[in-house]
Amino acid sequence: MDLVINKIGLNGVIDIPSDKSISHRSIMFGAIAEGKTTIRNFLRGDDCLSTLKAFQDLGVKIEDDGEVITVHGNGFSGLKPAKQAIYVGNSGTTIRLIMGILAGTSFTTELFGDHSIAKRPMNRVMLPINQMGAVCTGHDGTEFPPLTVKGTEKLSPIHYQMPVASAQVKSAILFAALQAHGESVIVEKEKTRDHTEDMIRQFGGDISVSGKEIRISGPQKLVGQEVVVPGDISSAAFFLTAGLIIPDSKIILKNVGLNPTRTGIIDVIQQMGGKLLVQESGSEANKAGTLTVETSDLKGIEISGEIIPRLIDELPIIALLATQAEGTTIIRDAEELKVKETNRIDAVATELNKMGAKIEPTDDGLIIHGKTPLNGANVTSYGDHRIGMMLQIAALLVESGKVELDKAEAISVSYPRFFDDLTKLY
Ligand code: S3P
Repeated sequence: MDLVINKIGLNGVIDIPSDKSISHRSIMFGAIAEGKTTIRNFLRGDDCLSTLKAFQDLGVKIEDDGEVITVHGNGFSGLKPAKQAIYVGNSGTTIRLIMGILAGTSFTTELFGDHSIAKRPMNRVMLPINQMGAVCTGHDGTEFPPLTVKGTEKLSPIHYQMPVASAQVKSAILFAALQAHGESVIVEKEKTRDHTEDMIRQFGGDISVSGKEIRISGPQKLVGQEVVVPGDISSAAFFLTAGLIIPDSKIILKNVGLNPTRTGIIDVIQQMGGKLLVQESGSEANKAGTLTVETSDLKGIEISGEIIPRLIDELPIIALLATQAEGTTIIRDAEELKVKETNRIDAVATELNKMGAKIEPTDDGLIIHGKTPLNGANVTSYGDHRIGMMLQIAALLVESGKVELDKAEAISVSYPRFFDDLTKLY
């Protein structure tokens, strides 16, 4: 599709769409808890709808009246064998987290997804859950989907030092640990998003966290709850960037979830000298707020170490931000970008360089030389929603010519009304 180009003076207010990570988990927790769970502000993006459908396939009654989703959970033992293989679409969160849930069932489930899912590494989940007693195998002896998960009702607890910083892996192990007999101890490589831990507590479970060490005993019973999903800071990131780099702009983003394990982009914007006002609301446990950004003079910085998991999904749009900052921005320790929906290190460098950016891909990140004007080009999202949205924000800076985006439809994975929201700003 032809992207919108050459806009200055973006102004307005956007209600940020609901958090993808929390929407997935709200269905999962509702399904494994006992009793009714209601979910308000569920993200009806393709990925979260894959999770909803997957649990319907596992025999869980889930109703959607267009506003509230109601999940009628019957505990872990209420899950029933699916009649056919479960399709997870493009969703890494669905396939990885569900593996931990299926680990404790008395049946076998097959899981498959789209082209991108068929290339996502799964050993990171398979190894720990197999160590706990499940039998999970990949396609043709590889670690890649389609996968088969043979559960066991006799799951053992695990003591596990995580080799990767991944909330998906941690969450899969936690779901299995909730069903195991005894205490599991998980030590994170770096602290990652903690929505699963929060929701275990919210659903009446018991978990203790001390720094990077998590202790959890099983088996546990969870109880259905009322969940209200806050807005997704990962979606807000696109309009935060637009507001900072497009001349004469001021954008107000409402209802943004501000869980501290997700707010690395706020730290980055502040370090780069961006004008960003954060007005917090919500309780300590459920932080949310309004973010206001204005066009700013930015400077390049280094982004590495423990902050990386706190902004892992925002790195493509942060790379665009850095193309409009004076000086060099260096992103390190972000090798996980290579195994996202696409290789985001290559995708960001290749596509933005076509538009005139000066970006060097490295083994674990990107070196971005700013500040560069951007020009028209034929670009692709590689079927990756976050690359697609980043390229549309980049196109806003192009003064003449065309930016044609291939595979734009991927954007509906996390932000189905992205283009409508953008239109509201000019
Ligand atoms: C997610 C964790 C992250 C993130 C993904 C969502 C989650 O993946 O990139 O978009 O909801 O747990 P990793 O766990 O692979 O880092």
